[in-house]
Amino acid sequence: MRSDLVRRDDAVLWHPCTQMRDHAAFPPLEIVAAQGGWLTLSDGRRIFDAISSWWCKSLGHGHPKLTAALVAQSERFEHVILANTTNDQVVTFCERLLSAANGLPATFWGADAPRGRQPGHFGKVFFADNGSTAVEVALKLALQAQAQRGYSKRTRFAAFQHGYHGETIGALSVGDCGLYKDTFAPLLFPCTQLGPLPYRSGPEDPRWMDASPEWPVIQAQLDAEADTLAAIIYEPVLQGAGGMLLYSPDLLRRLRAWADAHNVLLIADEIAAGMGRCGTMLASHLAGPGVLPDLAVLSKGLTGGFLPLATVLTTDALYDTFLAEWRERRAFLHSNTYAGNALAVAVAIAALDVYASEDILGHVARTGPLLRQGLSDLARTQRSFGNVRGIGMMAATDLRLPDGGTLDPAARTGWQVYRAAIDRGALLRPLGDTSYLFPPLTTTGDEINGVVNVLLQSVTQVLSPGTT
Ligand SMILES: Cc1ncc(COP(=O)(O)O)c(C=O)c1O
Repeated sequence: MRSDLVRRDDAVLWHPCTQMRDHAAFPPLEIVAAQGGWLTLSDGRRIFDAISSWWCKSLGHGHPKLTAALVAQSERFEHVILANTTNDQVVTFCERLLSAANGLPATFWGADAPRGRQPGHFGKVFFADNGSTAVEVALKLALQAQAQRGYSKRTRFAAFQHGYHGETIGALSVGDCGLYKDTFAPLLFPCTQLGPLPYRSGPEDPRWMDASPEWPVIQAQLDAEADTLAAIIYEPVLQGAGGMLLYSPDLLRRLRAWADAHNVLLIADEIAAGMGRCGTMLASHLAGPGVLPDLAVLSKGLTGGFLPLATVLTTDALYDTFLAEWRERRAFLHSNTYAGNALAVAVAIAALDVYASEDILGHVARTGPLLRQGLSDLARTQRSFGNVRGIGMMAATDLRLPDGGTLDPAARTGWQVYRAAIDRGALLRPLGDTSYLFPPLTTTGDEINGVVNVLLQSVTQVLSPGTT
């Protein structure tokens, strides 16, 4: 029976990333409330948001400190053009975000952080209002900076196989997810996809910090384009939409050294992997001190997933190439209406307060391993759970047949598991036949045990019916 709301939804609403025909058999969930990791449906059911609502709810739903910051700012002013204006909130946020991205301890980016900019690698923040647009900003900044450094032939980009950087045309061009980009091939610019990457299962993998076997092939691909590359863009360590894949952070160390030797810029797309998801404020920090990119793109968890906001962090060296007399046309003439939106910035400051005061990184370090442990335990007894990997507050498994054989993608097993899990109380929207757990960073051990159990029961129901 379709509810009145679902019938009205059918009539007017085109949902994102959805084959709308699926709604005939699987109507959208009617959300009436959300708190912490939990969604409440109109029929009273509670569903655990195991994918943090497309990876953004780093602090869970409805965090009271974020709500309070939003309300307080809305009573001051909600949005003012950011060109040629400033305000205390936005400057404070830039100072604190830079300190966090530069790897300083929480005393430099939490609520009691000192005012003013601290020394560090990143020195400037540029604002956009969503992840894809911020990726476009980073690509444009890199291209323009190269020209201004005297390298006007550096107009190409390289990226990583299985990478994903968003849905706008530039972001799709540098991405490598055929499902989302192939249809638009005539609009896309060419990009070299580097690989195969040094995929690993996570920090416990003995080869975690060693990309030496895979590096020579990647280096040869880079060497072939050394004179024409403007920048290399990548998701640091964790590739999200490409299948929740993890690669050795050693690759980033090698890439940094190669890029420095060849005057190529590095762009880290931290949109999914940053803000504590991998256990560090930037996933780039996993490569060790001093291995930071020239540009880092953040969004999603920046506001704890409350409001759209995105930033591109960069170095003074890159920024300085844009300083000149107006007539020299070196200004970065990119604007998005809601750049630096005051409501989003106020919430983002509150999010940094919470990351520091609730020791979110400490919680991820203590609790996150339960996620990968939970999936590893399933894989030990059930061959349907293949290729378990995990880091920080993320773990993933590729579903297989009960005998370990490969699934037919046309059977949409992951999708069926998703549907079965809803009935058991967890939102586990998959990536094809990859099931993954990407819950709020605040998730408890009990919640993790619960969601792992839901996954087990749902997979068993779909792949071994009659045994549940
Ligand atoms: C790594 C990465 N880059 C870019 C994006 C695009 O961000 P947005 O959806 O805000 O445009 C995403 C979104 O999932 C992402 O995971």
